[in-house]
Amino acid sequence: MSVKNTDEQTPQQGGSLLGWIDRRYPLISTWNEHVAEYYAPKNFNFFYFFGSLALLVLVIQIVSGIWLTMSYKPSAAEAFNSVEYIMRDVQWGWLIRYLHSTGASAFFLVVYLHMTRALLYGSYKEPRELVWIIGMLLFLVLMAEAFMGYMLPWGQMSYWGAQVIISLFGAIPVIGPDLAMWVRGDFIISDATLNRFFALHVIALPLVLIILVFMHIVALHKVGSNNPDGVEIKKYKNEKGLPLDGIPFHPYYSVKDSMGAVFFLILFSLIVFYWPEGGGYFIEAPNFEPANPLKTPDHIAPVWYFTPFYAILRAVPDKFLGVVAMGAAIAVLFAMPWLDRCKVKSIRYRGLSYKLLLTMLIISFIVLGWLGTQPSTPLLTKMAQIFTTLYFAFFLVLPFTSKYEKTKPVPERVT
Ligand code: HEM
Repeated sequence: MSVKNTDEQTPQQGGSLLGWIDRRYPLISTWNEHVAEYYAPKNFNFFYFFGSLALLVLVIQIVSGIWLTMSYKPSAAEAFNSVEYIMRDVQWGWLIRYLHSTGASAFFLVVYLHMTRALLYGSYKEPRELVWIIGMLLFLVLMAEAFMGYMLPWGQMSYWGAQVIISLFGAIPVIGPDLAMWVRGDFIISDATLNRFFALHVIALPLVLIILVFMHIVALHKVGSNNPDGVEIKKYKNEKGLPLDGIPFHPYYSVKDSMGAVFFLILFSLIVFYWPEGGGYFIEAPNFEPANPLKTPDHIAPVWYFTPFYAILRAVPDKFLGVVAMGAAIAVLFAMPWLDRCKVKSIRYRGLSYKLLLTMLIISFIVLGWLGTQPSTPLLTKMAQIFTTLYFAFFLVLPFTSKYEKTKPVPERVT
């Protein structure tokens, strides 16, 4: 359903207000190109909801974040109390805060499922390498954004979590200690650190996120969407040049994605209203106590979405090598388009080796995630070492197995 302002005329020629605007600003033509006449494969499944849901959560975070900022005080002396004030005295403040804190967990859940989709259907492969790389940059910035946001309530876990993570910079040889000091802006985590994290969290990183999301979609629309069959729909077109297996994004997927959004919002509200702390996984118990530089909590653990990487960090006995392993666990994902040498995209038509390897990766990631929440014991450390090895094994073995994989015949058109 593309927009035309009269039956015969294109918007560029029309005399209406829309025509007037479109001759000066590509409003209707952009809408048509990227929404109404953007042809998406007709076989999108459940996993294809998570891109639009990530966009929805981004909007929830930005809007709730703006309202939080109206009452939050970014200073070590006032931050904790200002959050209590938001929770108790600001009208609907508790709702705004819980939308934002639960929204952070929802964001990562949605993005992890979104990335899983790409691994299932080979969406990182040619010609979508840049869609994947920009996605990975989004993931990095999202992690920085969440880490800095968690510091702002200035609770015990805000303080000591930041202490642990910033001290990791100190483990880098030669420049480490100076780098850690540069990040903190002080000899210890202090008011200066809180202030700069606030600036980065509320404006710098959200701006970068929005720009990257824009680039992510531009890259996707240049090459077109993949689909659960992993076949390129641009190969077969009708006499008008439209893909035979494609349907216009609007109204077909705008309606379908709205239905996904409604389901998501129902689940999300249930959690926001009835389980906002998520059993200590969304907001950890020590964060209900004000930050105290003289009292270390018994057990410091990051929020659940960081724990797989935290478990990898702790699995390595040497601190610096642990940092390297943790960084490598994220960095190696950037290389997926080149590590996977199989020509077939979708898991539906791939060989047993990829199915087994991907299952191993997902199980390792989940087990590492659980291990990262637990205090370390000799047994759990051994387990973390085993699952870290399995995590990296995926990326080491894949280039060899994927080259010789026994795949099934891929259909010419979507099934
Ligand atoms: C703020 C975070 C993100 C937002 C808002 C976002 C948004 C979107 C949207 C709207 C789409 C099109 C709809 C869809 O295919 O589901 C998409 C596609 C895609 N995204 Fe993301 N994304 C984000 C993060 C990521 C990350 C972290 C990755 C992976 C590293 C990634 C990889 C991809 C890929 C490969 C596609 C193409 C999928 C296909 O055509 O099969 N995205 N993204």
